[in-house]
Amino acid sequence: SSMNAELEKLLDSTEGSDREVSRKDFEGFRNLFQRFLQVKGPSIEWIKIQRPPEDSIQPYERILGRGLPNSVADCLNKLVVVKLNGGLGTSMGCKGPKSLISVRNENTFLDLTVQQIENPNHADCVDRETAAAMGHLNKTYNTNVPLVLMNSFNTDEDTKKILQKYTHHRVKIHTFNQSRYPRINKESLLPVSTSLRMTGQSAEGWYPPGHGDIYASFYNSGLMDQLIAQGKEYIFVSNIDNLGATVDLHILHHLVSQPNGKRCEFIMEVTDKTRADVKGGTLIQYEGKLRLLEIAQVPKAHVDEFKSVSKFKIFNTNNLWISLPAIKRLQEQKAMDLEIIVNPKTLDGGQNVVQLETAVGAAIKCFDNALGINVPRSRFLPVKTTSDLLLVMSNLYSLDAGSLTMSPRREFPTTPHVKLGSSFTNVQEYVNRFESIPDMLELDHLTVSGDVTLGKNVSLKGTVIIIANHGDRIDIPAGSMLENKIVSGNLRI
Ligand code: UTP
Repeated sequence: SSMNAELEKLLDSTEGSDREVSRKDFEGFRNLFQRFLQVKGPSIEWIKIQRPPEDSIQPYERILGRGLPNSVADCLNKLVVVKLNGGLGTSMGCKGPKSLISVRNENTFLDLTVQQIENPNHADCVDRETAAAMGHLNKTYNTNVPLVLMNSFNTDEDTKKILQKYTHHRVKIHTFNQSRYPRINKESLLPVSTSLRMTGQSAEGWYPPGHGDIYASFYNSGLMDQLIAQGKEYIFVSNIDNLGATVDLHILHHLVSQPNGKRCEFIMEVTDKTRADVKGGTLIQYEGKLRLLEIAQVPKAHVDEFKSVSKFKIFNTNNLWISLPAIKRLQEQKAMDLEIIVNPKTLDGGQNVVQLETAVGAAIKCFDNALGINVPRSRFLPVKTTSDLLLVMSNLYSLDAGSLTMSPRREFPTTPHVKLGSSFTNVQEYVNRFESIPDMLELDHLTVSGDVTLGKNVSLKGTVIIIANHGDRIDIPAGSMLENKIVSGNLRI
């Protein structure tokens, strides 16, 4: 009840048209907070976890084997592409929306997304299936697959400014905002924004409550009903920073035309776990349903087991295909009880807070006939750090109509392991340190740390380690070829 009083106080301080939005947000928050208080103990009992049944996670090859529908256009016209765009570029030292960072040839994540949905400039010279596999949609099939961006209060303004640049592109872009919830003090569990306002730091009092918020905020925005009225039946949701998340016509076909009449309402694309992905959520069978198991839900004693590549072999790529009418039904029945992730944070002023979040994939347990599809790794190409960025900017990939594919000139299908040090974390500093992106076709492992710059046309092969000690600086001269080399301290090549 003290929470209710605090929320009323906060609401009273909100003015104008924001007030209605805030009221909805507060209702959502109150609901989540109440559920948080009711939770007793862990959300899963380890002993009840079962391996998912054989046919509940299908290999991608089986889906491929079913071919394409007679009318691809009919399928596509039922589809809406949704990108999760609530996040900032903080992990790359950027203040604005992550989607506006340039990833390749001056194209941002958002540019690439638009190109994938829109068109191929050369659709005529490739056959339709190849074109579609590369992501060219609306122009190839003469369809109107719209793009929906889920923004947050952190990203909405900057994103909308940029959207004007796509008015002449062949893709209709809609946006809606996710909720804005109050951060709460770790001990008192009361909202921190009132006290922060006194010190002029009130922005830190709020957060976007995770991508699981999509169901409620999409529904509440009215946009979902609008799209259903236009005949849309499915959404393909993915992280905007996953460059591999293009529309896959085979998966769409599987979704739209269910064999033996079993309406599948939810497909999660999963992929084989490597040692780099041990923290990703996995699919389990629990109380007769497929369920997403996140590391945050795992009891301490079982964390190693959770991370093991042999017991939990696959992880969630967050590429999800979901039925729109099913979302509507579950919202109306208030049946979306997503597990709460308690995310602890320390504010600039040193105050310890928690933010209550949910994950979009956790909803898998709520839908009928949910399915996992084990897709190739190429559908999971996330850019979280400048090390990831270096890979996707390099000649390891080629760019075609917004889609990146691994260069056929790479002899091994695996990507090199790249570790750039802290002087590369900030994307601007990273850009300044490379005069051009090195040739990395034959690279296996790269570690760079300290004050290092690389000149034009450097080529890196095998294992390369470049370490400038504190106070030193290493400039790799233009045209250098480093193969299985360690460069460190004052040692110059
Ligand atoms: P993150 O980049 O924050 O998460 O968000 P992650 O570490 O990959 O994976 P999770 O959160 O453990 O699954 C992934 C995508 O979700 C969006 C981000 O913009 C990004 O595209 N996102 C995240 C939102 O849209 N809203 C949120 O509240 C959180």
